[in-house]
Amino acid sequence: MVINVNLTAERPTFVTHLECSWTGEIYEADRPHNLSRAGKPLLVRYDLDGLRASISKDEVSQRPNDLWRWREFLPVRRVADIVSLGETDTPLIPLSRSAKAAGGGEVLVKDEGRLPTGSFKARGLVMAVSMAKAFGIEHLAMPTNGNAGAALAAYASRAGIRATIFCPEDTPEINLGEIALQGASVYRVNGLIDDCGKLVAQGRDTTGWFDVSTLKEPYRIEGKKTMGLELAEQLGWELPDVIFYPTGGGTGLIGMWKAFAELEAIGFIGSKRPRMVAVQADGCAPMVRAYEAGAETATRWENAHTIASGIRVPQAVGDFLILRAVRESGGFAIAVSDEAITDAVTSVAQNDGLLLCPEGAATMAAYQQALADGRVRKDEQIVLFNCATGLKYPMPPVHASLDRNKPIDFFKLR
Ligand SMILES: Cc1ncc(COP(=O)(O)O)c(C=O)c1O
Repeated sequence: MVINVNLTAERPTFVTHLECSWTGEIYEADRPHNLSRAGKPLLVRYDLDGLRASISKDEVSQRPNDLWRWREFLPVRRVADIVSLGETDTPLIPLSRSAKAAGGGEVLVKDEGRLPTGSFKARGLVMAVSMAKAFGIEHLAMPTNGNAGAALAAYASRAGIRATIFCPEDTPEINLGEIALQGASVYRVNGLIDDCGKLVAQGRDTTGWFDVSTLKEPYRIEGKKTMGLELAEQLGWELPDVIFYPTGGGTGLIGMWKAFAELEAIGFIGSKRPRMVAVQADGCAPMVRAYEAGAETATRWENAHTIASGIRVPQAVGDFLILRAVRESGGFAIAVSDEAITDAVTSVAQNDGLLLCPEGAATMAAYQQALADGRVRKDEQIVLFNCATGLKYPMPPVHASLDRNKPIDFFKLR
């Protein structure tokens, strides 16, 4: 049997405390937390000098290529608490033909659909569930637009923890089915994700479940941070010029921004940062509106609608963290139409053979828009995030059929 040392070797860990992202107030490590007293997300802090002294770039690169090679950067203290389903590194796939057709240059897709449960939500939930296991938590609950629920269901079942999940009623059927099949209790709710979040909060006192909503517990972001760590390593410890990220709750964008700061603090990278671009749909664009208004926080987007359900998040508790990262990086927030999303799914599938999820396709549509309006240049290296496998989403119907008992005119077949 092949042993993955990332899952068997005890390694030093460096968490010192948690910190309120709004007030800077300090919280104790190694115990369950939700939001800070100010009602804002908590961020995990590390002894970065200790981390720097304990690990080198070469050592990280030589370890098996998965999320757990970053143990020293992560909060899980003991290997026994790791609840792994094989969180492999995800590849960077060049979109050469699509980029050329758009008049662009180097475009790489980080294809997160290769992760367990088919989406990048595995990164956040493997961490939250491993920490829940370490804390002996017995019941987790969460609102979800689909993919996060699927990841929670899978990891919770694997850890022997109960999970209860609330979805907007039009959540893709495949997500509802995978959540149920992977052992969680799942409910459709006649509302949006923030309405589902209210039910999780309301039920907490009665049930005693622990709320693992996006950014309402501090460890999902540490898992999502590995997207930034991994990207830096894959690009030879250089970061790209621009990152386009489909932004709902924004955990990945905030997590990557945190990862880059930690990598610089320990001397793995220099001060160069990518411009972070928050991509939303024009039927639900609270970050774009706040960015354009110069606001520090965002107001709720009413009547939110888009085919990209993962980014249909009318209000995000980490709004100010998303806006800060975008602005500090010199990036921007941009909205694209559902039509542009659908066109991007088709054109990338047909030109480059890669099936994007609608949210991933939104980043391609945003790239095309930003290239056309001059916000990105052709000579810049671009990374798009395809956050889930395109295989989870509805496909176009195929009507062509042949009767094998009748003569076929093969010249007429394409
Ligand atoms: C496929 C997909 N892309 C993007 C997102 C948004 O991710 P985040 O909450 O990190 O902004 C989601 C969240 O549900 C998703 O499922």
